[in-house]
Amino acid sequence: MSQPKAISHFDLAPSTPGKLKPDRLSAYIHRLRFQAPLFKLTIGSALFLGLVVFLVVSCSPSAPPPPSPRRILGDSRGGSYWERRVRSSARARAHAGHVVLVTGASGFVGTHVCLHLKRRGDGVVGLDNFNDYYDVELKRARQTLLGRAGVFVVEGDINDRELMEKLFDMVAFTHVMHLAAQAGVRYAMKNPASYVHSNIAGFVNLFEVCKSANPQPAVVWASSSSVYGLNSKVPFSEKDRTDQPASLYAATKKAGEEIAHTYNHIYGLSITGLRFFTVYGPWGRPDMAYYFFTQHILQRKQIEIFEGPQHSSVSRDFTYIDDVVEGCLAALDTAKKSTGSGGTKKGSAQFRVYNLGNTSPVPVTKLVSILEKLLKVKAKKKLLPMPRNGDVKFTHANISLAQRELGYKPTTDLETGLKKFVKWYLDYHSDLRKYSS
Ligand SMILES: NC(=O)c1ccc[n+]([C@@H]2O[C@H](COP(=O)([O-])OP(=O)(O)OC[C@H]3O[C@@H](n4cnc5c(N)ncnc54)[C@H](O)[C@@H]3O)[C@@H](O)[C@H]2O)c1
Repeated sequence: MSQPKAISHFDLAPSTPGKLKPDRLSAYIHRLRFQAPLFKLTIGSALFLGLVVFLVVSCSPSAPPPPSPRRILGDSRGGSYWERRVRSSARARAHAGHVVLVTGASGFVGTHVCLHLKRRGDGVVGLDNFNDYYDVELKRARQTLLGRAGVFVVEGDINDRELMEKLFDMVAFTHVMHLAAQAGVRYAMKNPASYVHSNIAGFVNLFEVCKSANPQPAVVWASSSSVYGLNSKVPFSEKDRTDQPASLYAATKKAGEEIAHTYNHIYGLSITGLRFFTVYGPWGRPDMAYYFFTQHILQRKQIEIFEGPQHSSVSRDFTYIDDVVEGCLAALDTAKKSTGSGGTKKGSAQFRVYNLGNTSPVPVTKLVSILEKLLKVKAKKKLLPMPRNGDVKFTHANISLAQRELGYKPTTDLETGLKKFVKWYLDYHSDLRKYSS
C-alpha cells in the first residue's frame, strides 16, 4: 500500500513562486518609506484589531465540543454526560418504585421488561454488549425504542467488573433483572466459548458484584426450560430432575441454577430463577423458528421441519412475550430483600425457581400452518428427522407453582400471539429507517 506523502511547510508554499521579485520588492519598500505616517497608521490599526479579536476569542466561555456520534448514541462510558444519563434513567417516578438494573436490555425479553418497568414508574438502567450473535441492527433498533421511553442502555459486558462496580457505586439498585446470556441451543456446537463467557463467567462476575454491593439487590434471572433436558415426565415441574441436559446451552443454565444457589447460601442474596419456555412475540429473536420461518415463507424459501421418531411431531410450549413479562414483574415484586451487605451474610435469604410457560404445547407443524394463514403464503416444507444438535422433542410446563406464588396466568394463545408478531414483523421490516437513530 502506498504511504501518504509527508507534508512539510514547503508543501504549503504557493506552487507559483512569489510574484514580487527582489528588485521590485526593494522599490516597493522604498515607496512605503515616503508614505511612513500612512504606513504606521495602517499597521497600528491592524495590530489593534488583531488584539481585539484575540481578547474576544480568548475571554468567551469555552463552548463544549459537539457530542461525538458515540456520545449521541449514549454508548460511551464514563464522564459526566454518561453519568447523568445513567442517573436519570435510574430515577423511579412511582412512589417506592424499584430501581432495576436490566442486563441483556437490548435483547428480546430485556426490551419488553424494560419498557413495562419504565411505564409503571420504576427506575431502569439497561446493560447490553450488543454482540453479533444475531442482527445487531435489531438490537440497536430496540435500544432506540428504549431511549425514546427514557431507558438508557449502557453498552458493556457483564464480565467487566470495573463497569459493573461503577454502576453499583452510582446507583443503589434494589433489583437486578438478569437476562443477558448467550441464548440458542444449536449455536452451542459452533461457538461453545460464548456460552462459557456469558452464562458462566459473566454470571459469576455479576453475582460477585451483587454480593459486595451495599445494599445488596434482589436478583431475578432467566434460566430456561432446556434444563429439563431428556426428562420425559410431563408436564415439566420444578421438582423434576434437571441433571440430563441435552445441549451445552442447557448445561450452562443448569450450572447457573447451582451457582445461584451458592451465592444465596453463602452471601444471603435473594435469588429467583425463571425457566422460560420458548418465548415469542414482537421484537423477537431472528434465530428462533417462528421468526425465520416467517422470513423464509415470505421469501418463498424452503423451511425444514424436524420430526421425532416414527414421524412423531416436535412440539413446544410457546409462551407469548407479554405473559412472560408479567411473570418477570411478579417475580421482582414478590422478591424479598437480600439479607447480606458488603459481602457478608446476615441471615438466610429467599431462593426460588419457577416455570414460566403456557401449559399448552403446540406441534411445530401447527405453528407453520398458523403462519401460512396469517401470511397468506403456502410454505415450502421439508420434513426431516431431528438431528442430534441439542434440541429436545417437546417442552411442556407445569405452571401451578408460579400461579400460586406469583399470580402468573398466561392468557395469550399461539394464534393470537403470532398475529401480533406478524403485524410487527411486516411493519418493522418494511420500515427499518424508522428505528435507525
Ligand atoms: N427467548 C426464549 O425463548 C428464551 C427461552 C429460555 C430462556 N431464555 C433466556 O432469557 C434471556 C433473554 O433471552 P432473549 O430471548 O431476550 O435473548 P437475546 O439474545 O435477545 O437477549 C440477550 C441479550 O444479552 C446480551 N448479552 C449476551 N451476553 C452478554 C454479556 N456477556 N454482557 C452483556 N450483554 C450480553 C445480548 O447482546 C442480547 O441482547 C436469556 O438469558 C435466555 O437464555 C430465553
